[in-house]
Amino acid sequence: MEKIATNRLDRGFYKYQAEFEEAAIRTLRSGWYIMGKELEAFEQAFAAYNGSKYALGVANGLDALVLACRAVGIGEGDEVLVQGNTYIATVMGITRNGAKPVFVEPDQYHQIDVTKLEEALTPKTKAVMVVHLYGHAADMKPVVEFCKKHNLKLIEDCAQSHGSKVEGKMTGTFGDVGCFSFYPSKNLGCFGDGGAIVTDNEEIYNKIKMLRNYGSSKRYYFDEVGLNSRLDEIQAALLSVRLSHLDELTNERYEIADYYLKNIKNDKIDLPKTREGAGNVYHQFVIRCKTRDDLIKYLDEKGVGTIIHYPVPPHLSACYENLGYKKGDLSITEELADTVLSIPMYNGITKEEQDRVIEALNNY
Ligand SMILES: Cc1ncc(COP(=O)(O)O)c(C=O)c1O
Repeated sequence: MEKIATNRLDRGFYKYQAEFEEAAIRTLRSGWYIMGKELEAFEQAFAAYNGSKYALGVANGLDALVLACRAVGIGEGDEVLVQGNTYIATVMGITRNGAKPVFVEPDQYHQIDVTKLEEALTPKTKAVMVVHLYGHAADMKPVVEFCKKHNLKLIEDCAQSHGSKVEGKMTGTFGDVGCFSFYPSKNLGCFGDGGAIVTDNEEIYNKIKMLRNYGSSKRYYFDEVGLNSRLDEIQAALLSVRLSHLDELTNERYEIADYYLKNIKNDKIDLPKTREGAGNVYHQFVIRCKTRDDLIKYLDEKGVGTIIHYPVPPHLSACYENLGYKKGDLSITEELADTVLSIPMYNGITKEEQDRVIEALNNY
């Protein structure tokens, strides 16, 4: 029997094959490949989808974070509060600007623990970077209040939370800037690298627009040393297709998650929980198990693929040795790294495959 992969991007393509092919060929034939009509159309649609004034396409999610931090004025000597259990790119967005990440432990929903923000605050704190990890929206009301109270910038890493809301308001629209990745496996994925930022702030919009294009606001005149970080026309055209189906794709994820939640029954396995009032678009379906590594082996033998998001937390990653953290400094984050496991969750997974995942988990 064929092994069930953790993701099947081909299924996402074939679902709307004709529309994707039409968009790609239309763009190829247009003779215009960077910064054109397709990008403009996607940016407008993506801003409207999120309920924000502006959206700007960039080359990838990491660049979105780097540019967002720079645009709100984060730099050398600043500290940014960020949850310990996140993907490394979140942290790189901070450190690439010369600022220091100050890690905060997560709550039971894998999101930043808002009760621990005050104790992490110092006179150097400049911003909070919230990550809506696995598609579950963080507890935004207290975060927004905290930022207002201490006059801090607020950046949201929405690389995993396209379409996830808190009380009807989209993640990415609570702070100064929302940053998105369109890496192919994301809920809104393209067919290569891509990213975007959303904001209501005209100044931030203009600054990022300039910075993504070498720091140029007028052709061949350069105000700042910027990046080459643009979302190309083909990706923008393909993203417009996928965006038009995003609600339907998200609904499919809700159904898969619901089926897993109702049918996975094993005392050794903890299922993901969702905070009352928080959106969860299940970018990943993350279970927890004390004997996680043994479970991985068992599932592999049963033909079920799994993946760990993430085995080494940023504060213990080799690239951040300079920050001076050691094992034991973030016990909750570290325990999660040792026990979390993502099971197959993607658009196009069949009922039969879901049943096989459930059966394997229940027999463990
Ligand atoms: C939480 C998070 N932030 C940032 C990124 C970076 O996005 P990209 O891979 O497009 O650079 C990703 C995904 O890779 C992510 O999962």
